[in-house]
Amino acid sequence: MPVTEEQKQILKTTSPIFKENGKEITSILYKHMFADHPELLNIFNRTNQKNGTQPFALANTMYLAIENIDHLDVLLPQFLLISHKHRASTVQAEHYPILGKYLLIAIDEFLGGMGDPDILGAWSAAYNMIVTIFINIEKRLYNELGDKSEQGFIPFTITKKEIIASGPIVAFTMERRDGGKMRDYHSGQYITIRIKKDGLYHIRYYSLIELFNGIVAVSLCLGLLFIHLRRLYQFFIHILHVFLHAGRQFLYRIWLRLRAIRFSTSSSILSAEVGIAYDADAQSISTRF
Ligand code: HEM
Repeated sequence: MPVTEEQKQILKTTSPIFKENGKEITSILYKHMFADHPELLNIFNRTNQKNGTQPFALANTMYLAIENIDHLDVLLPQFLLISHKHRASTVQAEHYPILGKYLLIAIDEFLGGMGDPDILGAWSAAYNMIVTIFINIEKRLYNELGDKSEQGFIPFTITKKEIIASGPIVAFTMERRDGGKMRDYHSGQYITIRIKKDGLYHIRYYSLIELFNGIVAVSLCLGLLFIHLRRLYQFFIHILHVFLHAGRQFLYRIWLRLRAIRFSTSSSILSAEVGIAYDADAQSISTRF
């Protein structure tokens, strides 16, 4: 249902509350959502929850969307980038009503239980309008990956781990366990690596920077890199750039057999997880901010 003129007026008067307190509201949202749906913790980067970057990102986008409710198309470039991240985290259409429910609970709780039904109705209508755009974009992005078996995490095996520079910087070579093809990728894209440890999944995103002289060169970020510069997020950036000169055999794997991927990182981030587990799932080569 479209947002009515009356609801737009309500949104206009209540959006400053969200501007000032959005992060607090979305923190309440996540607190309740994760308490009732702990399975969703598996798709979120827990560090980003703890340090508040994710609640802030959601709050900021919601505020921007509400402010532009009459011409949401101006936000399409941002929505596309977020949708890439959603695909990379395997967010599904059925997750949206869940988050929507806790958004309203959070607004109501923030207002001390005084969330007038008209206010909540207006926010619900706006949320649904925004969600329709996300779901449509994400449907297309998932379809681009191929059939269902290609749309989620794909099991990889780490076949090689070597220290290639001081730091130490460790290079990992991974191969799809199912022998399937690697997706094409280009500079500026990232992969999502998911590791199961102590019964929980941990997700990290790693950037692929460029093809160097026909040889794969991969850079990994420590944490998230350049996430939404446009919205002036103050993320910490700690980058490792490693150019890997792989041998002919490796080229052969990437370009002809197309089923292995090689990336590098400081052992301090991944050795505890990948190194010990010695296997991993990877998915969704996506465009990053
Ligand atoms: C209108 C609804 C939504 C908006 C405006 C929104 C907005 C955002 C934004 C701005 C980001 C940050 C992008 C980045 O880190 O690069 C993000 C990431 C993410 N979102 Fe959403 N989102 C929405 C719905 C959902 C839903 C329903 C879920 C699943 C329950 C979800 C799960 C995630 C996950 C897992 C990430 C990755 C961030 C991380 O793990 O730190 N989002 N979203």
